[in-house]
Amino acid sequence: MSENNVTTNVNDRSQHGMWSSKMLFVLAAVGSAVGLGNIWKFPYMMGEQGGGAFFLIYLFCIALIGFPVMAAEILIGREGRMSPVNSVLKLAREHNRSKSWSLMGWTGVFGGVLILSFYAVVAGWITFYIWRLFSGEFTGADATEVNEKWGNFVGDPVQVFLWFTGFMAVTIFFVARGVNKGLELAIRICMPLLFILLVVMLVYGFLQGGLMDALRFMFHFDFSAMKWDTPISAMGHAFFTLSIGMGAIMAYGAYMPREGSVKSAVGIIVVIDTLVAILAGLAIFSIVFAMNLDPAAGPSLLFKTAPVAFGNLPLGAIFGGLFFLFVGFAAFTSAISLTEPAIAYFVERFNTNRVVVAIVIGLITWLLGILSVLSTNVLANLHLFRDWTFLDFFDKFTTYLVLPVVGLVIAVFVGWFLPWERVRKGLDLSDDTMWQIWIICIRYVAPIAIFTVFAFTLYQEVVTPLLRMLFGE
Ligand code: PHE
Repeated sequence: MSENNVTTNVNDRSQHGMWSSKMLFVLAAVGSAVGLGNIWKFPYMMGEQGGGAFFLIYLFCIALIGFPVMAAEILIGREGRMSPVNSVLKLAREHNRSKSWSLMGWTGVFGGVLILSFYAVVAGWITFYIWRLFSGEFTGADATEVNEKWGNFVGDPVQVFLWFTGFMAVTIFFVARGVNKGLELAIRICMPLLFILLVVMLVYGFLQGGLMDALRFMFHFDFSAMKWDTPISAMGHAFFTLSIGMGAIMAYGAYMPREGSVKSAVGIIVVIDTLVAILAGLAIFSIVFAMNLDPAAGPSLLFKTAPVAFGNLPLGAIFGGLFFLFVGFAAFTSAISLTEPAIAYFVERFNTNRVVVAIVIGLITWLLGILSVLSTNVLANLHLFRDWTFLDFFDKFTTYLVLPVVGLVIAVFVGWFLPWERVRKGLDLSDDTMWQIWIICIRYVAPIAIFTVFAFTLYQEVVTPLLRMLFGE
């Protein structure tokens, strides 16, 4: 880059660094989006909540809420060029809006730490299973044996703690090295491998012969299997899987070069994320059906059902190991994005070294994560709410409440409180029709959709039981 270029662009750069190209931004955002949400959560949610029926609601949420909110997040990040808290603050100041808008950035700081605290525990389980499958431990094993092994593992706090700690340490190591030497390095290594492994797993899954059953299962509409909370879980999941509603994509957007187009980036990220969820689901269900196993096995689908299938299929140890490696890479490129809002903010706030901040944030997350480590053993019977352990609680609290609420605030802020010219220019929406569709989505469709789902849940959860109590059945 010429001297001249550097000086003209100096105000349009983030102090934390910039992605080396627009392609790297897209890869980083895809890396953040594609994760345990796609491969661990999505298949079991579909399995439990009516396959295609759940999928349809989820697609609506992705299209009507995911698209506009993600574009809004990237816009705020790229216009602000700072951590989510400070980017929002900067825009609010520039347009004479209240400073309180930056609260949404703060929820992102906490939300990210909270999500990573349980995410890294599940990623720790995955890491152990990479090794377990490669070692051939499940070869020829039956369901009882696999269940027992799973129970013994998660029942042992020390083992779970060690795998969790290992995963956290690697994550913080990369994060501490900064945007270019850390995040970007991780993305350059993991993303190509992730895609290669996905193709390998698909081919393997298809060869086992369960594909037709998998397709039928995923796209068959079973409305009776839907529960009252299916809409909120589909919506929450749309936020979770796209990494929106907590500032991860906003923080990444701050490092996005000006020449990239936000609209095409959003399109690519959303499409790839959804495709990976479908393809990973097909790969898993193909082998599950090839072995006639139960597809609706809940959160432990990957740990109880998949190992039985791999253990009894040809070359299962190798392909099982590769499958968990695939999940591990996906989890890792998401984990590194979860602390970025917090780390960028504290580096700006205290004008201090990134390494120190990364270690402190890492330690806090790690301490909090111990509650999730203990959720499958020592504290398995401690329920804060319903039958939820700490791990369940952190997951549901962030996915169903924090992300959609912050998403709603982001949509309202960009749709109603920023000047249209700036938004339109920032998004580069020169086409009138596209601009009009976008503005309708961000101003009306997304906020109303999020609000309606909340209202529905509130009605089911609070009003209906209350009425029942007052007036009987
Ligand atoms: N999108 C990631 C996944 O699907 C999780 C995530 C959520 C990452 C929020 C960053 C922010 O696994």
